[in-house]
Amino acid sequence: MKTIIEPFRIKTVEPINFTDRQQRQQILAKAGYNLFRIKAREVIIDLLTDSGTSAMSSEQWAAIMRGDESYAGCESFYRLQEKVRQIFGFRELIPVHQGRAAERLMFTRLVKEGDLVPSNTHFDTTRANIEVRGACAVDLPCQEASDLQSAYPFKGNIDLEAVEKFLQEHGKERIPLGMLVVSNNACAGQPASLANISAYSRLLKEHNIKFYLDAARFAENCYMIKEHEPGQAGRPVRAIAADIFRQADGCLMSAKKDGLVNMGGFIAINDGALAEELRQSLILTEGFPTYGGLSGRDLEAMAVGLEEVLSENYLRYRRAAADYLARGLQAHDIPIVTPAGLHAVYIDATAMLPHLKAGELPGQALACALYLEGGIRACEIGRVMFGEAALSPDGGTARHDLVRLALPRRVYSQSHYDYVIEAAANVYKRREQVAGLRITEQPAALRHFTARFEPLPVAPSAGVPRTVSASPSP
Ligand code: F0G
Repeated sequence: MKTIIEPFRIKTVEPINFTDRQQRQQILAKAGYNLFRIKAREVIIDLLTDSGTSAMSSEQWAAIMRGDESYAGCESFYRLQEKVRQIFGFRELIPVHQGRAAERLMFTRLVKEGDLVPSNTHFDTTRANIEVRGACAVDLPCQEASDLQSAYPFKGNIDLEAVEKFLQEHGKERIPLGMLVVSNNACAGQPASLANISAYSRLLKEHNIKFYLDAARFAENCYMIKEHEPGQAGRPVRAIAADIFRQADGCLMSAKKDGLVNMGGFIAINDGALAEELRQSLILTEGFPTYGGLSGRDLEAMAVGLEEVLSENYLRYRRAAADYLARGLQAHDIPIVTPAGLHAVYIDATAMLPHLKAGELPGQALACALYLEGGIRACEIGRVMFGEAALSPDGGTARHDLVRLALPRRVYSQSHYDYVIEAAANVYKRREQVAGLRITEQPAALRHFTARFEPLPVAPSAGVPRTVSASPSP
């Protein structure tokens, strides 16, 4: 059979609350045109993030009943530790409530003022947790990453030449560790190849610098290695994952993605002395080392999720879902980043809304237009999220204004994606009427979560003043 189906049946459903365009216009204005400020029940299809939004399986719910809630030494911890050892190969497990807690613990211990931490592209919380130490998070994405439309399959690679130069210039004294994000969320969910990961690992080793992976979407990255890397096609994703983790000294994991849970994360490393130090800080803010701010039942669900995410059937379906959405958008000439990754489809807002200048925040404007059109909540990944500096040619992080349509795991069906495609196509047809935005209020850091915006007047040729999109009410 050619048709790839969801490899599950649905046992529990959650109703969607519908809104009309007029309501959404009011909701947007009240929220200061920031979709993070909108209530979830005011959203029809929520593609804001794939993080913590997975549907859990019946096996995970069953495991939850096995959760051992003992304060110290709970069985659930040992079950998770065993699973992490099997899949990731690291001996020491430090559970935390989510990825950024792992980042804070790790960087508080390893990073000091004036340090430099290279990566393919740091995620925003990772960057913030490094920079709060007075250090600098340095992005060295490969050259191919800047061409959004090319077919190059490993745009998540780190630029090895740049790494070599960087390591020679600054050395171990200023570089306490090297990071690599798999898959590279800030770079449109593109994967890094096994060859690239191995070469980066070798370079770091030559300089005696530790290497940690941000493994939030490790299974998806490994599936893309299987799809595209010579010699990997016939191998189980689990074996590819083992090869990746073998290159590293440890990993930081937000299990809210490829752990298939709604909350949870961990640090996994081999260095016992470092693990002991991290556990001491863990006790201060997260909890006792065998639960790390989570319930025993959360640890159980994570152990099952880490196994389920490596199912080849599941990953094949995940690929089919992302491709379905990507092709549907392309069929309406909507410019997306290609090839599509697995956790999201990214629209190139600059290309879709060429009438908007960069300062008119095309990514945020497009995200608002999608909400107005169909109640779809997406996420700007660009100028608003990363700031102006990061978008300059030398600045690193996000050199493009993108809108991410993140795909929650096992949540939406094909007809939901048809609806998203139709809404995006409607916005595209009237794209010149999408107004730019300007920021009216913003905090000092991580501004995308709380900033407020207001629409700029639409250019006279478009003829529709002060509205986000001018398509008629349904
Ligand atoms: N690393 C990556 C690559 C991420 O994408 C995220 C979160 C984190 C670390 C932090 O993990 O949320 O558990 O604290 N990404 C979410 C997203 C928020 O929407 O992409 P966390």
